[in-house]
Amino acid sequence: MQTGPLSLSTLALTAIVAASGAHADALRDEALEMFKALPSTVPAVANNPITPAKIELGKALFFDPRMSASGVFSCNSCHNVGTGGDDNLETSIGHGWQRGPRNSPTVFNSVFNEAQFWDGRAADLAEQAKGPVQAGVEMANTPDNVVATLNSMPQYVDWFNAAFEGESDPVSFDNFAKAIEAFEATLITPAPFDAWLNGDDAALSDDQKAGLQQFVDLGCVACHAGTNLGGEGYYPFGLIEKPGADILPVGDKGRFAVTETVDDEYVFRAAPLRNVAITAPYFHSGKVWDLKVAVQIMAESQLGEEMSDESADQIVAFLGSLTGTLPPVVYPVMPAETATTPRPSGEVIVE
Ligand code: HEC
Ligand code: HEC
Repeated sequence: MQTGPLSLSTLALTAIVAASGAHADALRDEALEMFKALPSTVPAVANNPITPAKIELGKALFFDPRMSASGVFSCNSCHNVGTGGDDNLETSIGHGWQRGPRNSPTVFNSVFNEAQFWDGRAADLAEQAKGPVQAGVEMANTPDNVVATLNSMPQYVDWFNAAFEGESDPVSFDNFAKAIEAFEATLITPAPFDAWLNGDDAALSDDQKAGLQQFVDLGCVACHAGTNLGGEGYYPFGLIEKPGADILPVGDKGRFAVTETVDDEYVFRAAPLRNVAITAPYFHSGKVWDLKVAVQIMAESQLGEEMSDESADQIVAFLGSLTGTLPPVVYPVMPAETATTPRPSGEVIVE
């Protein structure tokens, strides 16, 4: 009979397919214990019910440069939703062309971070949003001037009334921050990695799966897990081996400034890794432009591992599977200013 060899090879083929299927499932089972796919709907946020009116208002505020003293900087200046939710600069440039001390993190998926900023000093996005408006090197404004600016434009007053219906003082700095938080909660970017976690085997290439396996086996996952593969937990940058001052500038002691505990010197929040392939440069210092170099620095500083080129390439391939798709953001038409709108001020306030 001629069917012998044929059935044998069919058998062998079936066995290989079954084995690789089982392997893929094992990796997925392992991954599902450590990572979480993004939800398909806008998540709930504590103390801030999210409504369409609030999202639309928050979007206008996010894009409105008149929220800064100079009238030049909006949230979108440093968190450009068209370029990965960051500014692609080493450290951000704000009011009066001043350069800030840290790299701008992406706002995408930031709603899933345990706390905000590189050092986690803001508990949530609403608290966070009040920071940059007042920071002398960012928007250099005051809460009173923001509220005066909003009150000067009837369209904004209407929008606040609609978004915070029934409140006694709808146009407030608190509600400004809550509306922005609502908009930011919509900036969620499902990626091939999510499709794979949800069962689509073809969503990751073999290289990406190999990279994921390494990411897990080497221990990156100890700090970069959960929905954002990071964004939670605080660790010394240089747990095993401290990077040089060219990457970890001595002046920025990270979480030490928040807790004033010596143990927290050079401690930072594990960086969230979604969209990391499109948010160079890397680290709070923004000193590293090449993702592969950043991965090798991590292996050395956090794990004490000299990482081979091949491993680093595979991990970079895996990290590429975290680049997601932002839901369409339609550029808002903002309210027109009036005779009472505070004039832009170029005065540089040095803190
Ligand atoms: C001049 C540039 C600049 C402007 C303008 C700016 N930001 Fe930022 N933003 C930064 C930088 C730099 C950081 C990191 C600062 C730190 O960690 O100390 C940051 C951090 C954040 C974070 C934390 C993300 C994370 O992963 O921890 C969010 C969210 C955010 N900004 C939202 C906003 C919003 C909302 C506005 C407008 C109200 C705004 N930013 C205006 C530069 C800017
Ligand atoms: C012990 C905890 C820990 C381990 C293990 C760890 N990381 Fe990190 N990772 C961090 C912290 C903390 C930061 C933020 C560093 C800073 O202050 O800039 C970070 C930052 C990063 C960044 C830069 C992200 C950005 O947006 O700038 C990448 C990429 C990264 N890690 C990848 C990895 C990889 C890959 C591994 C495994 C080889 C790994 N990490 C292991 C804690 C860790």
